[in-house]
Amino acid sequence: MLSQLRPLLAVCLYLQLPGGQGWFPGYSNGFHYQDITNGNVYFNGVSLHVESPEHSVSATRGGSVILPCHYHYEPELSTPRKTRVKWSWLPANPISAPASLEAFAKETDVMVAMGNRHRSYGSFRGRVRLRRSAPGDMSLVINELHLNDTGRYRCEVIDGLEDESVTVELELRGVVFPYYSQKGRYHYNFLGAQQACKDQEATLATFEQLYAAWEEGLDWCNAGWLADGTVQYPITVPRDGCGGVDLAPGLRSYGQRHRFLQRYDVFCFAASVKGDVYFLKQPTRLNFTEAVEACASNGSQIAKVGQLYSAWRLMGLDRCDAGWLADGSVRYPITKARPNCGPLEPGVRSFGFPPLHQKFGVYCYR
Ligand SMILES: *[C@@H]1O[C@H](CO)[C@@H](O)[C@H](O)[C@H]1NC(C)=O
Ligand SMILES: *[C@@H]1O[C@H](CO)[C@@H](O)[C@H](O)[C@H]1NC(C)=O
Ligand SMILES: *[C@@H]1O[C@H](CO)[C@@H](O)[C@H](O)[C@H]1NC(C)=O
Repeated sequence: MLSQLRPLLAVCLYLQLPGGQGWFPGYSNGFHYQDITNGNVYFNGVSLHVESPEHSVSATRGGSVILPCHYHYEPELSTPRKTRVKWSWLPANPISAPASLEAFAKETDVMVAMGNRHRSYGSFRGRVRLRRSAPGDMSLVINELHLNDTGRYRCEVIDGLEDESVTVELELRGVVFPYYSQKGRYHYNFLGAQQACKDQEATLATFEQLYAAWEEGLDWCNAGWLADGTVQYPITVPRDGCGGVDLAPGLRSYGQRHRFLQRYDVFCFAASVKGDVYFLKQPTRLNFTEAVEACASNGSQIAKVGQLYSAWRLMGLDRCDAGWLADGSVRYPITKARPNCGPLEPGVRSFGFPPLHQKFGVYCYR
């Protein structure tokens, strides 16, 4: 009885799927090539081209981005082929814990589309779609961007005979900042460094992010963890004690360090924040406890270090008043350098971690 039913079921299924473009039960991200039957037509010297005008796209945290990808045939096809499009992703921060190294080292699926149907995966579910502004436009639109969406995206077009792909790098606009613990220099092992950045509304900076910051002039003579588990520091002006005067400017690397046993500072990456960082106008200076309460009674929260850095870098916050931040440090942001406001370059000035009873202003975040 059962054996007689099976072919019947298969026929019904086939009829349900217009043009054979639907999803089969138990479908597992592979592609089906149902049109192989009239394959001869395909071999008339026609070739598939998959292109992207941009190899790197930068976007804002919480915003949307379009990763461009188009395909066309040369010469143009007389009979359309059925194409499948698959977007996959290699995260920029592939190492989050030693045990998950292997799991993160390969591309994971973002979206698969066949005809008008599509399916999205994992944390991309409900946040991605294909733009389809013209025939062959398979650009991926990602909404509500997360800090951890950065990385290399692959757009792969498969038509049963050919399989072509192109990659697009996604970066988030943001700022790299060095960070050390209230407990002192070289305090963090790798996991501690990860947590420290998270506590400041940031992530561990990648090598590419630190390199870009170095190109823009970051010079810092204390070694810090990066997302790939290496320890490095950026030097624009070679000098003794920072790799020596004979070494060309660049990133000085200690290479991979022991994640549990070895301790350094950290380089964090803060992407743009939704909301507002501001210096709270107050009649008097405040100690740390009063500063926390003052932001709360102003309907906000005392700002985190990553929030101050992104407001400085991305929103041009400029204020020559030292203020408390949530971690107990005191800093102020300068975009237009001037006398009595620190060095001659723009930057976030730091007073380190003063005793909590000392009196300063406060930066709040809303
Ligand atoms: C990425 O971040 C989002 C929100 O911040 C979170 O929900 C998601 O689980 C994270 N994904 C990974 C792979 O860490
Ligand atoms: C917060 O403080 C600002 C001055 O810095 C003031 O103009 C505003 O009214 C205050 N808001 C609340 C809700 O207290
Ligand atoms: C800040 O001052 C208040 C009094 O206005 C006091 O109760 C509090 O203990 C002080 N906090 C610190 C950390 O010194």
